[in-house]
Amino acid sequence: MNNILRYDVLILGSGAAGLSLALKLRSDIAVAVVSKGALLEGNTYYAQGGISAVLDPKDSVDSHIQDTLRVGGALCDPEVVRLVAEHGPREIHWLLRQGVRFTRDTQGQDPSSYHLTREGGHSHRRVVHTADATGKEIAGTLDRRIRERDKVHLYEDHNAVDLITTRKLGLEDNRCIGAYVLDRRSGRVVTLVARCVVLATGGASKVYLYTSNPDVATGDGIAMAWRAGCRVANMEFMQFHPTCLYHSAAKSFLISEALRGEGARLLLPNGERFMPRFDERAELAPRDIVARAIDHEMKRLGSECLYLDISHRPGAFIEQHFPTIHVRCLELGVDITREPIPVVPAAHYTCGGILVDRQAHTDLPGLYAVGEVACTGLHGANRMASNSLLECLVYSELAARAIEAHMTRPAPEPEVPLWDESRVTEPDEEIVVAHNWDELRRFMWDYVGIVRTNKRLRRAKRRVDLLRQEIIEYYSNFRVGNDLLELRNLVEVADLIIRSAQSRCESRGLHYNLDFPDADPSQRIPTILIPAGYRPRCGV
Ligand code: FAD
Ligand code: SIN
Repeated sequence: MNNILRYDVLILGSGAAGLSLALKLRSDIAVAVVSKGALLEGNTYYAQGGISAVLDPKDSVDSHIQDTLRVGGALCDPEVVRLVAEHGPREIHWLLRQGVRFTRDTQGQDPSSYHLTREGGHSHRRVVHTADATGKEIAGTLDRRIRERDKVHLYEDHNAVDLITTRKLGLEDNRCIGAYVLDRRSGRVVTLVARCVVLATGGASKVYLYTSNPDVATGDGIAMAWRAGCRVANMEFMQFHPTCLYHSAAKSFLISEALRGEGARLLLPNGERFMPRFDERAELAPRDIVARAIDHEMKRLGSECLYLDISHRPGAFIEQHFPTIHVRCLELGVDITREPIPVVPAAHYTCGGILVDRQAHTDLPGLYAVGEVACTGLHGANRMASNSLLECLVYSELAARAIEAHMTRPAPEPEVPLWDESRVTEPDEEIVVAHNWDELRRFMWDYVGIVRTNKRLRRAKRRVDLLRQEIIEYYSNFRVGNDLLELRNLVEVADLIIRSAQSRCESRGLHYNLDFPDADPSQRIPTILIPAGYRPRCGV
């Protein structure tokens, strides 16, 4: 298949952001949804803790707003925080209408109400969840719903390579009109053209050696938008989740913060509780504080991991609330009802991303960004737990309405060239790609991790410059494959993270630099990187 396929809306990504947007668009709009692997594979599927929203009459939107602002290191956009917090309950009801089943509160006075758990930074129980597998329930439901839609075409196992812009075609009026997409099964690149393109490709935590994220989280959307001329913001604020399972056979398995919400304590190898020494909120301090405290204690003691203990709660309670974690740990020989769980921090969430406005418009007309790929201003310097799925849902609604308004305009029909492979050959040294993947993720972990210094950042910058050059050269000469495409995007994102970190000469939220250990009020502004050839947009 090598022709041009045309749609009204092209959505790259099938997580909570992409699928909820596809479902919220009017059913007469022709939509293509592209996902790099199976439709379900992405961060959404693995979400554990839940979604924050004010559902308890004793809670308030103002309290949700204040908590989010406090956790965000004074860098959130207060208007965006209000917008998202206010829309929370409506989005939970939207999920319920799609068929999502949340855990009910069997202990409460009203059995029809939902059990609300607690996580770091929240001053109130406000996280609605499906036991400890909230993402699986949401993703599964959206997957079923989308397959019932007539005018939605699904492209699974398709990797978007780059956006197609009219400027690349030599036109003066720049806009995004589609994407080149690699069919991973046939190895061919197809051309998808649309009136609106949406990036919903998720985060970039695979840029680090240790991460809670699945393999698809390689920052592709951020890199594609950057190459197409969009500004990118706050990339220094990469979030490390404090508690991932430490076990040689467990690749990226998260131990939900909800365990701490239900009373779990962090312990040193000698059984001593240490978080009260670091913060009065102890285990329920925001993630940046808890992850740094764990990192500090591990380095101080030369320990490979620390421990999270919930075994003082009744076994039946643990099995009911955390069935997934209980079973997975048991498979690996850890009975969480009886013993502490070995844990380490790992890269978890990309707080920065493509700069968007309150309707998810990027800098490039025709291009929208929704979900973890975007930087809306909600998270500031540190995302509060369970605010991410909420942001996906609120912004997919805002984007859907903006896109529908856009549909009233006539469809542009520029001539789009097919993908040209005439000047490339078969890759000759796959080992180069594998080696560079490993090197990149290792130095990002060592030099641009939880604790940074100027010297480490300079070292990382030298290495990323070299790698970037090599990878661009490789990309220009050889036929594209999945690993090469991901590596090309990862190196771009790594460069954006390092440059953002170098430009922030203070410590704030998730960015902690030993050479500037304090926050500097004069730097209380987002970091915005401007790409070559950037032109401020005029009109939609
Ligand atoms: P994703 O769900 O990651 O989906 C990205 C999609 O883009 C995938 O379909 C992928 O295939 C596709 N894609 C990527 N690149 C390309 C490409 N080049 N071409 C085509 N398709 C592409 N947040 C909460 O609020 N509550 C939680 O309890 C919670 N728990 C979490 C637990 C874990 C283990 C993890 C990893 C994250 C958790 N988060 C949680 C964060 C939250 O899950 C994510 O931020 C959110 O799901 C992101 O949704 P998304 O739709 O933006 O991206
Ligand atoms: C968790 O369950 O600990 C993850 C929650 C989140 O990332 O918001």
